Amino acid sequence: MRVDKMISAVKVDSRKNIKKNAKKGELIVNGEIIKDSSYKVDPYKDEVIYMGEYVEYFENLYIMMNKPKGVISSTNDLETTVIDLLDYFYQRFDFNLAGRLDKDTTGLIILSTDGKLIHEIISPNKDIYKKYEVLLKNKIVDEDVDRFKEGIEIKDGNYITKPAKLEVIDDNRCYVYISEGKFHQVKNMFKALSNEVLELKRLQIGQLELDPLLKEGEYRELSEYEIDMLKNNQHNFHI
Ligand code: URA
Repeated sequence: MRVDKMISAVKVDSRKNIKKNAKKGELIVNGEIIKDSSYKVDPYKDEVIYMGEYVEYFENLYIMMNKPKGVISSTNDLETTVIDLLDYFYQRFDFNLAGRLDKDTTGLIILSTDGKLIHEIISPNKDIYKKYEVLLKNKIVDEDVDRFKEGIEIKDGNYITKPAKLEVIDDNRCYVYISEGKFHQVKNMFKALSNEVLELKRLQIGQLELDPLLKEGEYRELSEYEIDMLKNNQHNFHI
């Protein structure tokens, strides 16, 4: 790969500037000053220093965030979005979001420049399960578990949800697993059961779990292992 392509791919500078600065001796590959910005490198093996800074190459970025309340799951909005929470370095990349969350919902959201992977995660045909922790206004009753299994009529009866799972934690708290992402789905499922969601937090998407060390509003890049897990996602539970 051309060294100017490598450096511009990770948004360090434009190819035009790299050409100019290389001529001035600001480009070093494996300890040698390179004045020609079309010089070929192995982006994963060669050590590239541009303008005194080591350049790390990557094809895509994969981030997990613990979304706080009050922040919009969108890449572009007048109100504060999850993108606004990222450091300056990340702001220059075009992120896609896997699975939007309501403004008042917290928990796991995936941001990535890998549009193909995000598309696969949110595709309804893929049946990727999301796990939520739910706090409810009223007590959970045994029948709710069966109703989740059977599918629940939402939106005034014009949609029946796919089979889902409700796991009771205590009187008013449970885990819910759904494979779809209809608008306000969890809230509407409980509304149909004459209950009301007070708090909602997403804990898991497929096999990827929210890192418990991430406080609300914090994020980190995914490990190679976690990226592979998302790419080779398998069903993680049976109803
Ligand atoms: N279901 C909801 O109702 N809201 C969310 O944010 C996610 C799932």
